[in-house]
Amino acid sequence: MQNVNVVLGAFYGDEGKGKIIDYLSSNAKYAVRFSGGNNAGHSIEVEGKKFAFHLLPSGILNKNIKAILSNGVVIDPKVLLEEIDNLKKNGYKVDNLYISEKAHVIMPYHIMMDSLLEDARGDNKIGTTKRGIGPAYCDKYERCGIRMEDFISDNFKDLLKINIKNKNVIFKAYGYPELDFDSVYKEYSGYAKKLKKYVIDTTTMLHQAIKNNENILCEGAQATLLDIDFGSYPFVTSSNPTIGGVLTGTGIGAKYINEVIGVIKAYSSRVGEGPYVTEENNEIGDMIRELGHEYGTTTKRPRRCGWLDILALNYAVMVNGLTSIAMNHLDTIGKLDKIKLCVAYKYKGKIVKDFRTNMDFLKNSTPVYEEFPGNFGDISNCKTYDELPDNAKKYIERIEELTNTPIKFIGTGAGREDIIVR
Ligand code: IMO
Ligand code: MG
Repeated sequence: MQNVNVVLGAFYGDEGKGKIIDYLSSNAKYAVRFSGGNNAGHSIEVEGKKFAFHLLPSGILNKNIKAILSNGVVIDPKVLLEEIDNLKKNGYKVDNLYISEKAHVIMPYHIMMDSLLEDARGDNKIGTTKRGIGPAYCDKYERCGIRMEDFISDNFKDLLKINIKNKNVIFKAYGYPELDFDSVYKEYSGYAKKLKKYVIDTTTMLHQAIKNNENILCEGAQATLLDIDFGSYPFVTSSNPTIGGVLTGTGIGAKYINEVIGVIKAYSSRVGEGPYVTEENNEIGDMIRELGHEYGTTTKRPRRCGWLDILALNYAVMVNGLTSIAMNHLDTIGKLDKIKLCVAYKYKGKIVKDFRTNMDFLKNSTPVYEEFPGNFGDISNCKTYDELPDNAKKYIERIEELTNTPIKFIGTGAGREDIIVR
């Protein structure tokens, strides 16, 4: 009964997880978002229409799939209702959505607090998406958070009252405007009414699916190097987008997990602050950004771009126990004359092959590269691995060799059908 497949980001996010999820969801009965919130951004093109998902599992576009926001997710009810409305406008009924009663709710004070804390950090800012994600998780662990089951019940009023009272003390101290309980309560109890019908015990639902041998696809958001434990702390998100987050974020046991697929790009990118050893903060990075359209889905920020980093990838392979890799943007990297692949770091005069997230290590390491010929030509018509040009195969096979992990999926273009499956 190993019917759970997992898709995870292997680098700093924005690897194109949506495309792989979209491909795999044709075999799935359940699609689950298990961590993070609307800091994510997955875009998918279906029948010429482009959808950008921040919160909803992208599998929701498949009417035969039950789409779940499980307990590990933090939910901004306003954003969720907007995404639901947008789908309805495009002809989707959205009667296949289920929200965990244990998922925490992002309230307006979380969003204000996210900005306040970023401003207070000054030059040391994290570069968060300012969607209130971190403060919502803080409240979850502080045990003053509002869970979905409370949000839709009579408990909401009292919980909101005490939270607003406490948060206003901080807003006042920082000279921020204070929140008015009555108006927040009015607005948010309206959202609660609309969301109530979607709220259930998703863990029991998933256990039933496992018993029935139905396929479950866990859709990762964010990525390994943004993980609160395993990422480049403090320049990380506030949840575990790695394999552990799948287990705690859904209530699924480890023995039910089958494939764990790590998604990468043929190059790399990062949004927000923090170290990035293989960054090309120059005309090469600019070229990759333009060729790969590397601008944020969530915040529209230009992404920092650079080469693929084998040390970071091997770290993701280990931390998550990746069974295979999906590589996007092979077409993009193939437009360059020369491709570089980071195979080691030089740190304090020594060659190092193991990745660490220690700040001193990351800030003072320089990449050691192997070079590969580019100029793949147009590969959009390649439907099988054999049809790929030799230069592309050389690059892919070297990565497989260095990671000891098969690259099973290869993205050859932006469209849904531009994918090679081996
Ligand atoms: P997807 O799912 C890229 C980054 C932010 C910031 C840090 C903390 O599209 O891969 P947060 O708002 O989460 O507290 O910000 O994490 N970040 C992402 N970067 N893609 C994402 O999601 C991200 N989600 C968060 O830029 O540096
Ligand atoms: Mg993103």
